[in-house]
Amino acid sequence: MKNIQLDDAGRLRHFLTVEGLPRELLERILDTAESFSGVIEKSVKKVPLLRGRTIINLFFEPSTRTRTTFELAAKRLSADVLNINVATSATTKGESLLDMLRNLQAMQCDMFVVRHGDSGAAHFIAQHVAPHVGVVNAGDGRHAHPTQAMLDMYTIRRHKGDFEPLRIAIVGDILHSRVARSQIHALNTLGAGEVRVVAPRTLLPRDVGSLGAHVYHDIRQGLRDVDVVITLRLQKERMQGALLPSEHEYYQLYGISQERLALARPDAIVMHPGPINRGVEIESAVADGPQSVILNQVTNGIAVRMAVMSMCLEGRGTAAEELT
Ligand code: CP
Repeated sequence: MKNIQLDDAGRLRHFLTVEGLPRELLERILDTAESFSGVIEKSVKKVPLLRGRTIINLFFEPSTRTRTTFELAAKRLSADVLNINVATSATTKGESLLDMLRNLQAMQCDMFVVRHGDSGAAHFIAQHVAPHVGVVNAGDGRHAHPTQAMLDMYTIRRHKGDFEPLRIAIVGDILHSRVARSQIHALNTLGAGEVRVVAPRTLLPRDVGSLGAHVYHDIRQGLRDVDVVITLRLQKERMQGALLPSEHEYYQLYGISQERLALARPDAIVMHPGPINRGVEIESAVADGPQSVILNQVTNGIAVRMAVMSMCLEGRGTAAEELT
């Protein structure tokens, strides 16, 4: 089946999911991000790569890190950025999603960055936009959060180098996590030595065997000798029914404390996609401690999103140019 994310020459046109993308392309995203990281550290934090392009942030769900770093990344590339406030848009007057897109497209935009509560929403939009428009998934339901996964890969590579010798434990609410799914695909594609998921049975998907990760229910066994600990937020907004006795009990059984972190390798790094819930999935002393790279992840998100947006629009004409 044709991967709609790639053109006939194998170039990135949309970035909707990590699943099915070749290793070379993921490595190219990381290498391109590396080249942009120098731009972000300069006093004039801009390159003219996307000058004259218009990028629209379309967020149907709350976000702090993703929306802001997409906006900063687009501005660093010299693009014009519009943030649509969906809550005050004409969708509240009954306009359909597709009609909204057609109207925004008529304003000659070049890219939509989309966050939506429904799995598959970004893919649906990519199937309906004009050929000159790129779509980047900024998180769809439980399905995928590909730029988060790539900024996590970038952070791991910066701290640890090669993926091949690494053991990585992803701890917490795997069932509702689009981040965990994208991370597992990315880690396996990049050749990580061992990927573990550590969670109670109620927070694992039924098809956990097909995820491509070793499953642990005991946190102490799951953390033993790992190089990277990724802890996840309990996605209460996606939970139906009581999957846990209480947050307190969850913390007692699965919270990342200093004592538990001592089971990992002494140089292990601790990651979290954010937002963090202190005292629920992570102890403050760990979140703010010397092994935490949580805020580095946020910073790295700018360079990685610059890489993804520039690659998706590379060599692509405007609406008028595509027709000629
Ligand atoms: N990691 C992440 O997606 O955070 P936001 O919800 O703040 O964008």
